[in-house]
Amino acid sequence: MAMKGNPITEQLFDYIVENFSEEDDLLRSLPADAAKQGVPMIHISPEQGKFLQVLMKAANARRVIEVGSLFGYSTIWLARALPADGKLITLELNPLHAQVTRRNVERAGLASKVEVRQGPAAESLAQMTEKASYDLAFIDADKPGYITYLDHLLRLVRPGGIIIGDNASAAGNVWQWKNNLGANADEYIKVIHAFNHRMATDPRLTSVLVPISDGMCVGVVNP
Ligand SMILES: C[S@@+](CC[C@H](N)C(=O)[O-])C[C@H]1O[C@@H](n2cnc3c(N)ncnc32)[C@H](O)[C@@H]1O
Repeated sequence: MAMKGNPITEQLFDYIVENFSEEDDLLRSLPADAAKQGVPMIHISPEQGKFLQVLMKAANARRVIEVGSLFGYSTIWLARALPADGKLITLELNPLHAQVTRRNVERAGLASKVEVRQGPAAESLAQMTEKASYDLAFIDADKPGYITYLDHLLRLVRPGGIIIGDNASAAGNVWQWKNNLGANADEYIKVIHAFNHRMATDPRLTSVLVPISDGMCVGVVNP
């Protein structure tokens, strides 16, 4: 049996969150506020937000694309790690989610750095024609779209830049992709696995699946 490292106990988890990824009052208030407006609670966790900030700094990210804004929780974590002249474009299909994100970005004082583009992400990405001019991209929207988004992002993100896909462990079940589970769960797992497989095998990327929250698949675009 291969070594798996230390199990993440409640105490260890609390230690990590308390010491590395404490939310401020604004971030803490956003989920309840968004829930009141009918936005679902499917945002990333604080430790994922901090992990994204570490990747932002590692990539020296000035220009960033996010696919899937929801109410702007991950948008704010990302945008807070931008330099003064940085810019983040977040793509969101749902008009209510786009509107709530805009408002939250304003409340965070980040409106000059963040643009919310409402519409299907595949269309917005197809309209972005600048080659290799973004430093980091975070994919966190409809799972069947992930590979299409990745194809666009491999054109848009520069060598040395970073592409991240959320929910890469499919609620811990992605390893079951070969099994015949039937019904919708099966399809969800298969599309996540197909994305992970592309991230792992595309010669333009060096990638790993990081088991944080629901898993983040992180790939650096090879020079
Ligand atoms: C998991 S949520 C994003 C969570 C957000 N990144 C966070 O952690 O705060 C997924 C979002 O993707 C949006 N979405 C779904 N399909 C989309 C599409 N085709 N194009 C753009 N956005 C889409 C949904 O409306 C939803 O707001």
